[in-house]
Amino acid sequence: MILQRLRAETAQQHEETEAENLASKIIDHSISLAEYKVLILQNYVTYMALENVITPVLQEHLLTDESQFLSHEKSEQLALDLKVLHMGSNYPTQELQLPQINNLAQALGALYVIEGSMLGGMMIGEHLPKCEALKEITAFHFFTKDKKEVAERWRNFCSMIRSENLSDKEIEEVIESAKNTFAFFSQVFHKVLATA
Ligand code: HEM
Repeated sequence: MILQRLRAETAQQHEETEAENLASKIIDHSISLAEYKVLILQNYVTYMALENVITPVLQEHLLTDESQFLSHEKSEQLALDLKVLHMGSNYPTQELQLPQINNLAQALGALYVIEGSMLGGMMIGEHLPKCEALKEITAFHFFTKDKKEVAERWRNFCSMIRSENLSDKEIEEVIESAKNTFAFFSQVFHKVLATA
């Protein structure tokens, strides 16, 4: 029920995100090296900032199912991609307006967006070797995660969120937080693009 609501109530934001995202240029193989660099930095800044605010909230629930989603794994993979591209990871994050993540419901809404975004990543990864402008890149990390692992992690996330005993008020908070997290992706994507 909660997953159906999340999917339905963020469907339009997903569509808009997908349309404006530079990763769509990987899928049609038109991406340039400069655009790929911007895309990796956009993702690094987004995941790093979100992981930093979600982690302390999940830490309070360490002995429960949510702890498997406690990691900086995505920003670490992106940091490796930045290294391959000889790029620094400094970005003025203090200018970003982060979604409010102060309780488990808000953390779950943000995790829905973060974990769900990896599903698109599986599709994007398949097209990387077909992008002419990226031929010289020696390694890809973030977009080439093992598909089985991504699918299993998503299944685990879905069963975890279903098993949470959330009140009606908390369910609204999860949905609101997912919407705010989608908006945060969009905010960072525009800001990083503007300064590239
Ligand atoms: C060009 C970029 C993207 C493409 C091509 C893409 C594509 C996809 C695909 C194919 C799925 C799986 C749908 C299914 O199996 O039902 C998916 C799911 C999802 N994506 Fe994306 N995506 C992209 C970017 C993003 C971004 C940047 C975010 C986060 C801001 C995101 C958030 C999600 C979420 C939350 C789901 C789970 C939907 C659900 O089943 O509830 N996607 N995406």
